[in-house]
Amino acid sequence: MKTKAAVLMGEGKPFEIMELDLDGPKEGEVLIKYTAAGLCHSDLHLTDGDLPPRYPMVGGHEGSGIIEEIGPGVTKVKPGDHVVCSFIPNCGTCRYCSTGRQSLCDMGATILEGMLPDGTFRFHGNGQDFGGMCMLGTFSERATISQHSVVKVDDWLPLDKAVLVGCGVPTGWGSAVYSGNVRAGDIVVIYGIGGIGINAVQGAVHAGAKYVVVVDPVAFKRDTAVKFGATHAFASAAEAQEKITELSWGQGADAAIVTVGTVDEDVVSAAIGSVGKGGQVVIVGLSSPAKFTVHWPGIDLTLNEKTIKGSLFGSANPQYDIIRLLRLYDAGQLKLDELVTQTYTLEQVNEGYQDLRDGKNIRGVIIHDS
Ligand SMILES: NC(=O)c1ccc[n+]([C@@H]2O[C@H](COP(=O)([O-])OP(=O)(O)OC[C@H]3O[C@@H](n4cnc5c(N)ncnc54)[C@H](O)[C@@H]3O)[C@@H](O)[C@H]2O)c1
Ligand SMILES: [Zn+2]
Ligand SMILES: [Zn+2]
Repeated sequence: MKTKAAVLMGEGKPFEIMELDLDGPKEGEVLIKYTAAGLCHSDLHLTDGDLPPRYPMVGGHEGSGIIEEIGPGVTKVKPGDHVVCSFIPNCGTCRYCSTGRQSLCDMGATILEGMLPDGTFRFHGNGQDFGGMCMLGTFSERATISQHSVVKVDDWLPLDKAVLVGCGVPTGWGSAVYSGNVRAGDIVVIYGIGGIGINAVQGAVHAGAKYVVVVDPVAFKRDTAVKFGATHAFASAAEAQEKITELSWGQGADAAIVTVGTVDEDVVSAAIGSVGKGGQVVIVGLSSPAKFTVHWPGIDLTLNEKTIKGSLFGSANPQYDIIRLLRLYDAGQLKLDELVTQTYTLEQVNEGYQDLRDGKNIRGVIIHDS
């Protein structure tokens, strides 16, 4: 079978639209027709060379779609089922899945190489094997993926909005609710309001934060954060720090969440400096593995019992939390529609990423039209 896809052929190159050959599903795999794909910053890290993937790679790891065919041994879904993809698979049986930490599933080890769990590829072209970003490749009309990468959702849910629950929503929401352990009455500061940070705002509000302070240099992002429940918004970390000191009567924030596009030492230091005794610093945003971004006197961590932790998929369990978040949406308590700033065709993928770079989008979404 043929499929049209947006692919990365090497570092520093934009997406190219190509027609690829796609193998059908083998044991434990499903053929999915993607309906929508979100434009998350993590794919931009691939084009910018911050993240070192295996090339060539079909882009896209935020996806929703409809199952068209299943391979032998598939029990999770059947043809016709509507699904949201999870950018971390959940096998259900590894040490992490079986202890309620699906975001660390061992099957996610090859998300930047993009092959399926058996170590082989289903996309091919020009005599080469093509990986799929996060074992998904949602910037393709169709893909063959593991059943462990999909979560069945109710048919009536709008897949062009539910798509965001495959990465941006759980990653951001969970960074506050789970990783940041935000509690009623807390003061939370969030650095960077893109598709991830805006959902950290939603999570902090749900968890009952008293003040949600956001930092983003882009005015549109700050205004949007306030519409989503942020209580204070600043263009710089220094301005935010002044306010946090005032709001906390000098005690500092309870949690600081770093969701900027490219993490650097300055923003991490601002975050660690913003929290008070017992404070949690959560690093969600990515940067090159060659870059050291945490430089801080350990004695401050010791004497003030501060915690610095990373957060993958918001420390959430995809199988449970994707459904949980969609139920919150259904109950009118989680905003999804308002997260989509702009939609694009597959051919417009580079335009969509330019809009992300230009700070125009909370989330851009590709609508597959085939
Ligand atoms: N840990 C995970 O599981 C996970 C999952 C998805 C994405 N990510 C990463 O999260 C980050 C955010 O992704 P996104 O899609 O929301 O990106 P985005 O580009 O849409 O948003 C990032 C925001 O950060 C702002 N920003 C940049 N520098 C800043 C600074 N110094 N201070 C304050 N704000 C600043 C930008 O103006 C922008 O609004 C990326 O690094 C992405 O790769 C991590
Ligand atoms: Zn993502
Ligand atoms: Zn697992």
